[in-house]
Amino acid sequence: MSTETLPPAGGAKALLRFSEIGIVGAGLMGAGIAQVAAAAGLQVRLFDTDPAAVARGKDQAAKGLQRLVDKGRLDQDGLESAMGRIVAAADLSEVASAGAVIEAVIESLDIKQKVFSTLSAEADDSTVLASNTSAISISEIAGSSSRPEQIIGMHFFSPVPAMPLCEVIRGYRTSDKTLEAALSLAADLGKQSIVVNRDDSGFVTSRLMTVLMHEAVRLVEQGIASAEDIDKACVLGFGHKIGPLATADLTGVDVAYRAGRAIYEGTGDPGYRSPQLLRRMVAAGYLGRKSGQGFYDYEGAK
Ligand SMILES: NC(=O)c1ccc[n+]([C@@H]2O[C@H](COP(=O)([O-])OP(=O)(O)OC[C@H]3O[C@@H](n4cnc5c(N)ncnc54)[C@H](O)[C@@H]3O)[C@@H](O)[C@H]2O)c1
Repeated sequence: MSTETLPPAGGAKALLRFSEIGIVGAGLMGAGIAQVAAAAGLQVRLFDTDPAAVARGKDQAAKGLQRLVDKGRLDQDGLESAMGRIVAAADLSEVASAGAVIEAVIESLDIKQKVFSTLSAEADDSTVLASNTSAISISEIAGSSSRPEQIIGMHFFSPVPAMPLCEVIRGYRTSDKTLEAALSLAADLGKQSIVVNRDDSGFVTSRLMTVLMHEAVRLVEQGIASAEDIDKACVLGFGHKIGPLATADLTGVDVAYRAGRAIYEGTGDPGYRSPQLLRRMVAAGYLGRKSGQGFYDYEGAK
């Protein structure tokens, strides 16, 4: 069964709580969010400090919508009207005038703080200001803003059009009203949410993934089973799409290692300590698909 989230039939605009959304950052995630928002019938204002990124983001969205047309799930008019709803914004003040803003800039506390500080100064009292951060504390992102009660985490998954989950994360000062609005926004975008009550390191999904992936690495380290068989157990026994070691290779062994370390440092919980094998693989340049070798060998496949 496909998990692809579909645009509501005919745009279903009347059912939407939000009519317009601002997106900051037009990279992989920002473009994916723009695609699902436009397909759902929302007007999208897309801003990036790199204008070429906006063009690339629109191209990514158009290609994603074309795949739906090819599968017979959207007609050509639907594609064109959705693309007509995505417009480039000149600056953050244009973005902030939408009812909700989702920030998807690079994973840097400093840059995110600056974006939210500006957005807070420009937004009005009811604007939802959401960050798509994978791991940074929402309270810290909101720390230098004048509207911390309006700031919340909305962690979409990649690829956004295909992944139905949105992890909604409360910061220390996020209001109930903002939480309720963010849940409505996620529903408008065709996503199902989970609520994370505290923005502790790793939220829910990264903590779960880290525990499974670390344990899989330890099983390899201790010679208990091969990487192939550990992944096979997760795929065939638990119904996962791919196993944790194949996931680490796909994400980047270094990225997975850093995510685990950040959770260990953030929580102080020794259960999140990285296995030695991960550290050694990173040091040796075995970073997964991007380096040709990780838990699997991709060079032989070339
Ligand atoms: N890639 C994933 O699988 C994934 C999954 C979930 C969440 N995330 C999170 O989503 C966010 C974006 O990730 P991505 O993979 O789309 O990154 P990306 O590198 O593809 O895109 C980031 C974009 O932000 C732009 N940018 C940088 N500074 C900016 C600023 N001050 N104002 C406006 N635009 C700015 C860059 O030009 C770039 O186009 C990160 O916080 C990341 O942790 C990523």
